Amino acid sequence: AARYQDGARGLRFTPVAPNTEDRVVVPEGYAQDVVIRWGDPVLRGAPAFDSENQSAAAQAAQFGYNNDFLALLPLQGEHGRQVLVANHEYTDENLMFRGYDPANPTREQAEIAWAAHGLSVVVVQEDRKSGKLTPVTRHPLNRRLTAISEFELTGPAAGSDLLKTSADPTGTKVLGTLNNCAGGTTPWGTTLHGEENFNQYFANSGRPTDKRYGIGTGATERKWERFDKRFDVAQEPNEVHRFGYVVELDPYDPHSVPRKRTALGRFKHEGAQPRLTADGRPVVYSGDDERFDYFYKFVSSKRMKKGNSRAAREHNLTLLDEGTLYVAQLTGDSPAAEIDGSGKLPNDGEFDGSGVWIPLATAGPDGKNVSHVPGMTVEEVFVFTRLAGDKVGATKMDRPEDIEPSPRSGHVYVVLTNNTKRGTAGSAPADEANPRNNNKHGHILELAEHGDDPAADGFAWRLFLVAGDPNDPATYFAGFPKDKVSPISCPDNVAFDPHGNLWISTDGNQLGSHDGLFGVATHGERRGELKQFLTVPTGAETCGPVIQDRRVLVAVQHPGELDGASVEHPASVWPDGPGKIVRPAVVAVWREDGNGVGL
Ligand code: FEO
Ligand code: CA
Ligand code: CA
Ligand code: CA
Repeated sequence: AARYQDGARGLRFTPVAPNTEDRVVVPEGYAQDVVIRWGDPVLRGAPAFDSENQSAAAQAAQFGYNNDFLALLPLQGEHGRQVLVANHEYTDENLMFRGYDPANPTREQAEIAWAAHGLSVVVVQEDRKSGKLTPVTRHPLNRRLTAISEFELTGPAAGSDLLKTSADPTGTKVLGTLNNCAGGTTPWGTTLHGEENFNQYFANSGRPTDKRYGIGTGATERKWERFDKRFDVAQEPNEVHRFGYVVELDPYDPHSVPRKRTALGRFKHEGAQPRLTADGRPVVYSGDDERFDYFYKFVSSKRMKKGNSRAAREHNLTLLDEGTLYVAQLTGDSPAAEIDGSGKLPNDGEFDGSGVWIPLATAGPDGKNVSHVPGMTVEEVFVFTRLAGDKVGATKMDRPEDIEPSPRSGHVYVVLTNNTKRGTAGSAPADEANPRNNNKHGHILELAEHGDDPAADGFAWRLFLVAGDPNDPATYFAGFPKDKVSPISCPDNVAFDPHGNLWISTDGNQLGSHDGLFGVATHGERRGELKQFLTVPTGAETCGPVIQDRRVLVAVQHPGELDGASVEHPASVWPDGPGKIVRPAVVAVWREDGNGVGL
């Protein structure tokens, strides 16, 4: 059919127009279905979801709230099945509990929220004729990890005094993971999960180090500190130092304790995605999602072992504990006077330049660790990583969200979601890497490591996309004609498809449309041709995404999250319809005729 002919391979579909419909809108010729919703059973014995009679025990065996990052992994030996791994970033109590009183949450509500955070592992069954996926409840790999599950701290800061608490004098055992946003998958079969806005769970701090991480001096919004003193910094000062890491999970071992990898630093990790060096060492890129914060990479000193032997698997679970953490510093190649903050291209026609990776600290074998930041110990660098970045003069970016190396080209795509404070009084002005003041729509930077070596100490960069309405002169789509692209605002999570196209999900559209998912070619003559693939319901952010040959998977996060919305006065009735509680959910989309996505 003619409607599929136009576009790069993998992107041949009729773009979805901007809209505000309270549903998932997909291109003509595509079908969709919910894979799993908040509250759906995951573990053996989990009860069916009952929003009016929810309990913490039920929630701990059911799919969590606010699904964000998704991974869909192969499952050998079980035909037609894959392993779905999902982050549950945070809870929206107003939308979860009828009659919720934010001034007086109950212990049961807090405990349900603890159980609704964390991670899910769910085996899914593929439909033979379509892209539909159905959860295999009671599968032995299925797992829920919550805000009270046991995690292990590993790497150079593990066991340090900064991580010891009254409940854990070893400084290595921590309960729970919080605010898992984006993530990544490793070539050795594990998943990575970024602990992002962990500051919001901790109350009553006054320390400067905590202030740099946004941890407040008063009560928290959820008031968990009333139910567990570890969330009260005044009573348990080091608990907050045990969050803000990249978590590594082995989804194929349901008994494994997930690890928080301190060698990758502590900040508001949006996500983490590795690429291997030519000699097999993983390099993990990660952004710190805050206005004027930095992006980083960790270069392991250990080589990945191939194969699935027990020895190889055990070795590979140590790769992220030894190596060097770097932060990025970028310099533009155009005269500063040509960067006026409007988004107008400089005279050389591109926002581009060079960059260096500044080493912060090295975690060596046998505990031989070295700080490269004057005045900071190794442990301080790995626990107060933002302060280390401040000291070495890292480049202040417009909220680094997801970051993803292309499996095809090796170029690294750094998503900068927005920064409306750029250029305001007392803040950093526009620069070539962040060229718009009051940056409402965000941009995406493309980074090429020197010699195509992910362990290189320098790189070239250029802006790939400057987002917004294509009619706005302050937008840029890698030079592609702007009358042929979809409007886009606030890029967030990203993923590559099997053809090398970049797929971009958005959070916070400022153009009057709902958020959505877009695909864009990164190479060839259609480089920069951006097309919208779907939109999500009212109040939702688009997360995930996972792009397979025959299936697109997105996490519809926080549907109905608008000011003043509640169970009694919902802003969305997705996905179950009028009279039913709004539920974050994972959605699969596929071609009705059975062909590959975008072919
Ligand atoms: Fe949880 Fe930065 O998005
Ligand atoms: Ca330039
Ligand atoms: Ca995100
Ligand atoms: Ca976001």
